[in-house]
Amino acid sequence: MTTDMDTIVSLCKRRGFIFQSSEIYGGLGSTWDYGPLGVELKNNVKRAWWQDMVYRRDDMEGLDAAILMNPKVWEASGHVAGFTDPLVDCKECKKRFRADHVEGAVCPECGGGLTEARQFNLMFKTFMGPVEDDAALAYLRPETAQGIFVNFANVLESRRRKLPFGIAQIGKSFRNEITPGNFTFRTREFEQMEMEFFVEPSTADEWFDYWVNERHNWYFRYGMRPENVRLRPHADDELAHYAQGCYDVEYLFPMGWSELEGIAHRGDFDLKAHADASGRNLTYFDDKTRERYVPYVIEPAAGADRATLAFLVDAYREEEIRERKRTVLKLHPALAPFKVAILPLLRNRPEVVETARNLYADLRRFFPTDYNDTGAIGRLYARQDEVGTPFCVTIDVQTLDDQQVTIRDRDTTEQERIGLDQVRTYVQDKMVVE
Ligand code: GAP
Repeated sequence: MTTDMDTIVSLCKRRGFIFQSSEIYGGLGSTWDYGPLGVELKNNVKRAWWQDMVYRRDDMEGLDAAILMNPKVWEASGHVAGFTDPLVDCKECKKRFRADHVEGAVCPECGGGLTEARQFNLMFKTFMGPVEDDAALAYLRPETAQGIFVNFANVLESRRRKLPFGIAQIGKSFRNEITPGNFTFRTREFEQMEMEFFVEPSTADEWFDYWVNERHNWYFRYGMRPENVRLRPHADDELAHYAQGCYDVEYLFPMGWSELEGIAHRGDFDLKAHADASGRNLTYFDDKTRERYVPYVIEPAAGADRATLAFLVDAYREEEIRERKRTVLKLHPALAPFKVAILPLLRNRPEVVETARNLYADLRRFFPTDYNDTGAIGRLYARQDEVGTPFCVTIDVQTLDDQQVTIRDRDTTEQERIGLDQVRTYVQDKMVVE
């Protein structure tokens, strides 16, 4: 049983993870700001992805392409003609819905009649330069993927790459969604973590299976509960215009099973389309077989905001431990905003405070560390549990004698004594993901 979304939204606001955007002006429909702890959590999700997709592989390159691209990109990619959702209006209350999200021909809000469906393009338009006319039209990218395709030849040549290899990118995308909602699950401005893997065509099916498996397992490595994650193959009539096959990694969000990430077999659709439209050669020459061909592409496309939300929902527990009720976020140490909190037990003893402050200063050089001496120890532990800090360290008078501290584990609440000089490696070891 997962937690309901209101509980998560309320914790996020109360503890500084996520705030409604422009709240003092009444907000702006489904846009959200990441607060002090949220920015850490989301950065950690993105860092984990980059670490595993780029740094720990020898067949990968990174990229950070511009959000604004030549509008011809979106014509060639099929987005101008086809990146649409069917839209219906209620004739009574004037609300708008995605036609495929309503059952029958009546308004789900007021029961009024609905208009015929018409296609609505989801790309945000803007204008470059001081003149607002068609010549200056530009789009905010609706996916990061196209920035990768148009740089395929640049990366291939500058890095002297051989196939197979991939290009990974993290960045903002924009879609004028008809029905955003469910907190940060579907928004109009969001961040994607996408990778395009270029392969020799006869090996594409094998690589597709490999990436489906790899990406499915990725979420478990960061502690997601297996019963909340599943793979779902797309039916033929569900496939995007570019895809030969697609699997969704789905998460059991409070509103039900929903897409977390898609892994698509895109064939040679994109490179061919950009080669045709730009007149550039986007083929690959295999110097072993002496053959020239357009590579096939396997694309795992994840959402940074959706993954962050899923990790939050998954980590959230209300439980009773040692006869005390508590709310705890059991986030993997690699994802937790703070890795450790330093809690001096006697803030009136200057030597205790000095020792605690020195440890705090030392640890902050390596990872985000919190320091708090503003309450009774039970309350301080509860506050750290609620934001997912995996370890709390207390310093007491005994520390002054034996140079040892008490370290408490968030999940078990068990405590052990370790040397002051061991705290850093103790915490760092727990952050490593095999
Ligand atoms: N390049 C392929 C592509 O963009 P997608 O399934 O449309 O595929 C990939 O998007 C991922 O981006 C989704 O699985 C989801 O995690 C995230 N995403 C897409 N639209 C989103 C939205 N409106 N709000 C938040 N995340 C979104």
